[in-house]
Amino acid sequence: DRPRPLVAGNWKMNGLRASAKVLGEIQAGYTAALKSKVDLAICPPATLVGSFAVLSVGSRVAIGGQDCHAKESGAYTGEISAEMLADAGATYVLAGHSERRQYNGEKDADVAAKAAAAQRAGLTAIVCVGETKAEREAGRTLNVVRKQLRGSIPADSTSQNLVVAYEPVWAIGTGLTPTAADVAEVHAAIREELRRLVGKAEQSRVRILYGGSVKPSNAAELMAVDNVDGALVGGASLIAADFLGIAGAY
Ligand code: G3H
Repeated sequence: DRPRPLVAGNWKMNGLRASAKVLGEIQAGYTAALKSKVDLAICPPATLVGSFAVLSVGSRVAIGGQDCHAKESGAYTGEISAEMLADAGATYVLAGHSERRQYNGEKDADVAAKAAAAQRAGLTAIVCVGETKAEREAGRTLNVVRKQLRGSIPADSTSQNLVVAYEPVWAIGTGLTPTAADVAEVHAAIREELRRLVGKAEQSRVRILYGGSVKPSNAAELMAVDNVDGALVGGASLIAADFLGIAGAY
C-alpha cells in the first residue's frame, strides 16, 4: 500500500537552454516500464521552467520550481510567485530547501507561507526538512525534524498537494548518507508527525522522499527503506543516465 514513488531532480543553480538535451534524454529513458512504477519530476532554474514545461508536454516528466514567493503578486523585485510557476507549466515547487534556509534565512513560518501559496496556486509543495551535522551529533535529529514539520506544513495539506523531503544537511552534496536504519527512524517519525498534521487517513498517502547524495549505486538500498517513497536528487539529476538509474532502483 505504499504511495506511488516520486523521484524529483533539483538542478539548483545549474542549467542553460542547452540543458534541454538532458531533459530530452530523461524523457527518452522514461520507458513504459519505468512509468508504471515511478513518477519523475525535474526542478530546473526558474529561467527554464517555461521551456521545459513545453518540452515535457506528453512525456509525463513533471516540471517544478525550486522556490516561490508567499504572496500572489506585488512589488517584490526579483521574486516569482507560485501562480507564475503554475502558469509556466510547473506542477511542483520545492519549499524550504536547506540551501534556502541557510543562505536566504528562511524560517519554518516562511516555508509554511510559501508552501501554502504553492498549494493555493494548484502546485504540489515539496517541503524540505533535515538536521545539520551538529544537530545529529547532539542527538537532536528527531526533535529538529518534528519541529520543522510542525512549523513548515500548511494546515489542510493533502497527499495531492504535499510531498515531504527529508534531507540531512550534512548529506547534501557530500557523498555521505545516513544508514538505512537512520533513514528508517526519521521517516517513521515523519509519518507519525504527519498523522497529527494531515490526519490519519491522509498521512499514509503523503510521499516522503529521501534526499542527500542519492546515486544509482546507493538508490536501491535507500529506496527499499520503509516509508521512503522516492528521492530528491541534486547532483545526480544533472546526468540523465544517473537520474534514470536512480528511478530504475524501484
Ligand atoms: O535537493 C537535493 C538535495 O539537496 C540533494 O543534493 O543529491 O547533490 O546531495 P545532492
